[in-house]
Amino acid sequence: MNTIIINGTDDEAFSDAAKALREGMLVAFPTETVYGLGADALNPEAVNKIYEAKGRPSDNPLIVHIAEVSKLNELVAEIPEAATLLIEAFWPGPLTMVFKKSNLVPDIITAGLDTVAVRMPDSLIAQKLIREAGVPIAAPSANISGRPSPTTSKHVIEDLKGRIEYIIDGGSCQVGVESTVLDVTTDIPIILRPGGITLEMLEKVLGIVYTDPALEIKGNIKPRSPGMKYRHYSPKAEMFLISGVPGLVVKKINKLAKESSERGLRVGVLSSFENAHKYKAEVIVNAGSVKHADNIAAQLYDSLRTFDEKKVDIIYSEIFEEKGIGRAIMNRLRKASSGKIIEAKEEN
Ligand code: TXA
Ligand code: MG
Repeated sequence: MNTIIINGTDDEAFSDAAKALREGMLVAFPTETVYGLGADALNPEAVNKIYEAKGRPSDNPLIVHIAEVSKLNELVAEIPEAATLLIEAFWPGPLTMVFKKSNLVPDIITAGLDTVAVRMPDSLIAQKLIREAGVPIAAPSANISGRPSPTTSKHVIEDLKGRIEYIIDGGSCQVGVESTVLDVTTDIPIILRPGGITLEMLEKVLGIVYTDPALEIKGNIKPRSPGMKYRHYSPKAEMFLISGVPGLVVKKINKLAKESSERGLRVGVLSSFENAHKYKAEVIVNAGSVKHADNIAAQLYDSLRTFDEKKVDIIYSEIFEEKGIGRAIMNRLRKASSGKIIEAKEEN
């Protein structure tokens, strides 16, 4: 398939892409979080193409994107009061809410669940695409399943060129990690995936918010969000997170890097800006300063993709503070490393 790559500011080409989407084709587009792979959410055949192009397991439901709050009524059975408050506070923006679904929503969107995830993106290109297409847009991240999500059109091209009809280029995504997925069908809403709208921000509006325990504990608790059970966001190389007090972490990573190099492996290190000069390894990726977790989030997936580009065999990564957007960063790093954490201890 020939993939047409267009610039988001080219109005004529944009209209063609919106029309193609309305006619059942796939269009990748930027949002403020990551690039999405869009299809007409009300057309099951079009939605099926998303699963095929991404190689996505069919039991993993999709988020429906809208550009006007009034469209929400058609998609959901009811809008709980908490949701109304959160719409007021955070839409448009990186917050997805899970509602009881209406009959309009096809089963292929929800993977057979009786709930549907909906979000209103803040990106002007995304909003324009939804409006011009005139339909709600189903869109997962525009990557091959399991790979790091795309935050530039280059990432989308790497994964999906030749598999979809259109890619709309809109530069780099600001937030860089996906939206927060929040279940609002329970009395107290539950975070199913940490993301762009942080726990702290939600608590300010609602007072109390739960987090799905499956996100925090390593083990066999089944996550309430089907997508959270898969290995995800992963570079090709095996990845380990190193936890412990900062001085020990640097020492431990250098020790592991040396041992791996001696075994003939090409080693990558994911480092904070503060520590980057302290490492000895073939590839050191500067994730950004710990003083600006927002920046670390914004470039996280590009950092992970860099290891693929540089063809490393094994990656050792620092861990980052789990507050604010740091929760989303650590959630993605834990997934990318399949939860493999090594604790740095004092050695004597
Ligand atoms: O920022 C984002 O949310 C991006 C952009 C493109 O909007 N989209 C995105 O989609 O990250 P995706 O498909 O990569 O992740 C959607 C997540 C998955 O973990 C999925 O299991 C969960 O949302 N989800 C979707 N519908 C759900 C539902 N009804 N109940 C529980 N979880 C649901
Ligand atoms: Mg995804």
